[in-house]
Amino acid sequence: MTAAPTAASFPIPANVFAETVTEVQHYTDRLFRFRMTRPASFRFRSGEFVMIGLPNAEKPVFRAYSIASPAWDEELEFYSIKVPNGPLTEHLQKIKEGDTIIMRKKPTGTLVNDALLPGKRLYMFSTGTGIAPFASLIRDPETYEKFDKVILTHTCREAGELTYGFELAKIAAEDPLVGEFAAGRLIHYATTTRETTPHMGRITDLIVSGKLFEDIGQPPLNPEEDRGMICGSMAMLKDVKELLEERGLVEGANNAPATFVVERAFVD
Ligand code: A2P
Repeated sequence: MTAAPTAASFPIPANVFAETVTEVQHYTDRLFRFRMTRPASFRFRSGEFVMIGLPNAEKPVFRAYSIASPAWDEELEFYSIKVPNGPLTEHLQKIKEGDTIIMRKKPTGTLVNDALLPGKRLYMFSTGTGIAPFASLIRDPETYEKFDKVILTHTCREAGELTYGFELAKIAAEDPLVGEFAAGRLIHYATTTRETTPHMGRITDLIVSGKLFEDIGQPPLNPEEDRGMICGSMAMLKDVKELLEERGLVEGANNAPATFVVERAFVD
């Protein structure tokens, strides 16, 4: 029997925040999102990740999760895969409103506006739950202050896995704070590889063939104007990174901003 992640069944470690789940939404049998209270003292930059866990063991399992909500939001949102027998997600997928989630205190990450030089267009390349940090960034006005156009690409195997991205694009467009910035400047480009939808194919193939740029009405990637952020599986990161480098973009970091940055979508 596995312990249900309801009330804390073990003492909460001193070095973590203990927060309360406020909302859970399941998208498919593999994907869900949840929101939880945000500690008053917790600060982060949109695009960063934190380590989260459940108080269901003396030594809880922690996993890195990108914060999917923007830095100004009063709650924290996360988007998660459900891994069969996954040490954390097996339990996490059963959480309900009112349950406790624990979170280490320090956020970190490279998918932040500070790690990129100013540019005209920001491309956010994501597959699967790799969309999470971009869910945060497309809802942050700072992203639109820095870039004229924000292009979020999201590729999944099946149509149902794209739902969260469509909801986000709608929320960003309708949000009283961000909507005005995002209007006409946020381009959401969603593709599938194993089920028929209006746009099909791996993002790598769509970059190489030029179809991505044709479909969104933007020029091919160039290092003078374009910036990139990549988040997905290891294989996807490697392949997109290679394509950006072939086109003259250079990988940056917090302490050395450049023209693209990479982060893996952690939980698998
Ligand atoms: P495909 O269906 O052709 O494998 P996964 O669920 O395996 O993480 O995949 C998520 C999405 O990322 C799928 O649409 C998958 O396409 C695509 N993908 C997987 N590997 C790569 C890669 N190396 N480059 C680009 N896209 C990839």
